[in-house]
This record gives sequence, structure tokens and C-alpha cells, in this order.
Amino acid sequence: MSKRIALVTGGIGGIGTSICQQLAKDGYTVVANHIAAEADKAKTWLAEQRAAGYDMHTAEGDVASFESCAAMAAKIKTEVGSIDILVNNAGITKDGTFKKMPLENWMAVLNVNLNSVFNVSKQFIDDMLEKGWGRVINISSINGQKGQFGQTNYSAAKAGMHGFTKALAQETAAKGITVNTISPGYIGTEMVMAVKEEIRNQIIAQIPVGRLGKPEEIARLVSYLASDDAAFITGANIAINGGQHMC
Ligand code: CAA
Ligand code: NAP
Repeated sequence: MSKRIALVTGGIGGIGTSICQQLAKDGYTVVANHIAAEADKAKTWLAEQRAAGYDMHTAEGDVASFESCAAMAAKIKTEVGSIDILVNNAGITKDGTFKKMPLENWMAVLNVNLNSVFNVSKQFIDDMLEKGWGRVINISSINGQKGQFGQTNYSAAKAGMHGFTKALAQETAAKGITVNTISPGYIGTEMVMAVKEEIRNQIIAQIPVGRLGKPEEIARLVSYLASDDAAFITGANIAINGGQHMC
């Protein structure tokens, strides 16, 4: 069997990099998506990954734009091949209380975190159906499960991702495709480091395990869901949050 190919959106970010590295270690060919504005960073990133021995590629595309995703998918199919494993990982926050939230911050967060899941998955699902095998893994958040003060936009988008997961899982289960959500708690990446230190420390105090999560811990769960061993898990929402929210 030829090597399976994985696409990780937001693949050069904090959690994305760990996911790409883990999937490459697992023996997949990995494509890391990034936005055009990060082209220089992506070039350096790719050189570093290849120097470390990983079979990786990068692909430019804005997950908030359907047209951009269509162009990216066409390029990936020609230059790398057909995607077997899709990790919808790209995401942003624009925190603020609802009272102060401008429409643009609502739209931006919904577009990058939720509409992206349609924009990207739509490009690759037909190929997975045709092959009779596929994995779609959506990176949501603890805050989509419990809600978070200052994140009406992000909590709504992340909760929406799991609705998508459950519906698509039903539509594709008989065709060898699993669709799952991972809901990480607070992980030590730039996204969390951007929260004011005082507020961040209050959040860490609410985590029973007593620390932030590590990107590699998320990556190893992605790795399992991507594997053949996880064929009986579909439509699930797997929490990985140090005990901060139990449901
Ligand atoms: N619950 C209840 N009240 C709260 C509160 C809380 N959790 N946090 C703040 N408040 C209160 C304050 O005490 C203050 O009250 P008073 O006006 O009576 O003094 C009021 O709310 C402050 O309201 P403001 O609109 O002025 O808020 P702000 O501008 O000071 O800060 C915020 C708002 C930027 C959203 C800030 O609360 C914050 O950063 N919160 C953390 C948000 C967060 O968790 N982000 C995670 C980003 S990382 C991520 O999202 C990854 C992931 O998936 C886990
Ligand atoms: P990160 O380091 O900021 O990574 C996010 C990546 O997505 C960045 O590379 C970012 O590029 C990219 N991105 C943003 N907008 C994009 C777009 N329109 N098209 C393509 N790529 C885009 O954050 P992270 O912590 O690794 O987060 C990864 C995912 O995990 C996100 O979906 C996040 O919501 C989720 N998550 C994170 C945590 C956490 O605690 N860190 C917890 C739960 C869930 P730029 O850097 O250029 O913006």
C-alpha cells in the first residue's frame, strides 16, 4: 500500500507543528497548510522539518475562503496526491465580552474556526468516499463544550464543529470514513500565551492536573484517531483537558 497522505490546516502553528511531526513519525506523508502571509515562516519551517527527516510539504491557502481552499486542494492533488487524513486544526481567537464584540470579530472567528471545516472538508471528502477509507479530525476546544467568558464567538464556532462532526460521521460511517472531534483544554501555545498573565494563572488554577497541556499530547491523540486501530470511533468528541471540564 502506498503511504497515506495527511493534511493539517494551520499546520505550522503550535499544535499543528506537533501534529505534523507525529503523523510524519507514524509514516504518513504530511502536508502542512498555512496562510499566504506566513509564506516566509513556512519556508523556514519546511526546511527545518525536512532537515529533521520528516516527509513533509507545505500548502498555502486561507481556510476562511472556499475558493482559496479549492485552489489549494487542486495543487495538493497534483503535486502530492489525494488526501486520506484531514486534520481541521487552523483556528484563531478574538476574545472580548459580547457587549464589546464588533461584528467583524464574530465573523472572523466563525469563518476561520467553523466555516473552514466546510471549506476544507468539501475539497477532500469525495476522494475519501471513492477510496472507501478516510479520517476527518476536527480540533475544537474545551470552550466549545463549556462556554467561556469573553468567547461567545469562539465557543459558538467550536461547538458548531462538533455538530458538523456528528452529522458527517453518520453520512460516511458505512464508507470507511471516521469523523471525530478532539476538544483540547488549555495548551501551552502562543494562543494561550496571548491571554493576560493574571487571567491565564487563574485558568491554570482551575486545571486539576495543575499545568497547561502540551501540543505533543494532542498530537498523539490525533495519531490514534488517524490509525486503522481507531476504525470503531466515529462521531466522538474526545476531551483532553487535564480534568478542567468533565462531561
Ligand atoms: N466570570 C465572571 N466575570 C468575569 C470573568 C469571569 N470569568 N472574567 C472577568 N469578569 C468580570 C470582571 O470582574 C469585570 O467585572 P466588573 O466590570 O464588575 O469589574 C468584567 O467582567 C470585565 O469585563 P470587560 O468586558 O471589561 O472585560 P475585559 O476587557 O477586562 O476582559 C477578556 C475580557 C479579554 C475576555 C478577558 O476576560 C479574558 O482574556 N478572558 C479569558 C478568555 C479566554 O479564556 N481565552 C482563551 C484564549 S486561548 C483559547 O481559546 C484556546 C482554547 O481553546 C482553550
Ligand atoms: P496557533 O499556534 O495560533 O496555530 C493556529 C494556526 O492556524 C496558525 O499557524 C495560524 O496562522 C493558522 N491560521 C489562522 N488563520 C488561518 C487561516 N485563515 N487559514 C489557514 N491557517 C490559519 O494556535 P494553536 O494553539 O496551535 O491552535 C491550533 C488549534 O487548536 C486551533 O483551532 C485552536 O482553536 C485549537 N485549540 C487550541 C488550544 C490551546 O490551548 N492552544 C486549546 C483548544 C483548542 P497565524 O499564526 O498566521 O495566525
